[in-house]
Amino acid sequence: MENLDLNRLPKHIAIIMDGNGRWAQEKGQDRLYGHYHGVISVRKVVEAATEIGIEYLTLYAFSTENWDRPEAEVTGLMVLFVDTIAKEVPDLHKNNIKLRFIGDLDMLPPAAKKALADATEQTANNTGLTLIIALSYSSRWEIVQATQKLALAVQNGALQPDQITEAVFAAALTTSDFPDPALMIRTSGEHRISNFLLYQMAYAELYFTDTRWPDFRKEHLVNALLDYQSRERRFGKTSAQVQTND
Ligand code: FPP
Repeated sequence: MENLDLNRLPKHIAIIMDGNGRWAQEKGQDRLYGHYHGVISVRKVVEAATEIGIEYLTLYAFSTENWDRPEAEVTGLMVLFVDTIAKEVPDLHKNNIKLRFIGDLDMLPPAAKKALADATEQTANNTGLTLIIALSYSSRWEIVQATQKLALAVQNGALQPDQITEAVFAAALTTSDFPDPALMIRTSGEHRISNFLLYQMAYAELYFTDTRWPDFRKEHLVNALLDYQSRERRFGKTSAQVQTND
């Protein structure tokens, strides 16, 4: 932790929390047991991100594709989301954390939708860490719905096609209120982005670790940040140009 340069932190970290199922199966347990332990890691990582001074943290909790998992796992996850959110909101609020949710939330059961809306409203005026939970989210879904929104605006005459700039497109995405992630972490040994923030991660540094999500703790986050700080972010420029800019 003392080796971290607090002036060079990524403003926004996105995490694919992978490996709950394998972690549980390795222990001879049900997959849901892994998800319950994954919640402990969520808590630890949110605490650490707050302490370190990260401004935005996005967690990929449930993808559009995850709806195709066995029904018992999907139902169990929905119950876990609603219970965890209801239980954690008072503490998140006390710690000045703002909760936001991105994804096709209309797919969620009514009780879950209500819990998310309440949590968002309750923490809306907080000014600390913005914790974004991606639920029923997929990047292709998001890009298609943004395109539909813009096409409708063109059809209505509110927008000309040549007015669709990168900024206008980004504003039609569910992440319009947040900066692009500068660092993406994926746990559990998979080296993929899997339909997560594809448009937003154009220049994100990607960090992969073999650690399963239920084992992920502050020290793993700090290691990812140290790795991030050892890299040179050039955004398509030359090394010399970037160093002059510094
Ligand atoms: C991926 O592991 C994990 C998920 C699909 C669910 C993640 C959910 C949590 C950690 C709970 C978070 C709760 C809140 C409120 C944010 P996997 O099941 O794909 O694992 P595997 O690849 O080993 O099978």
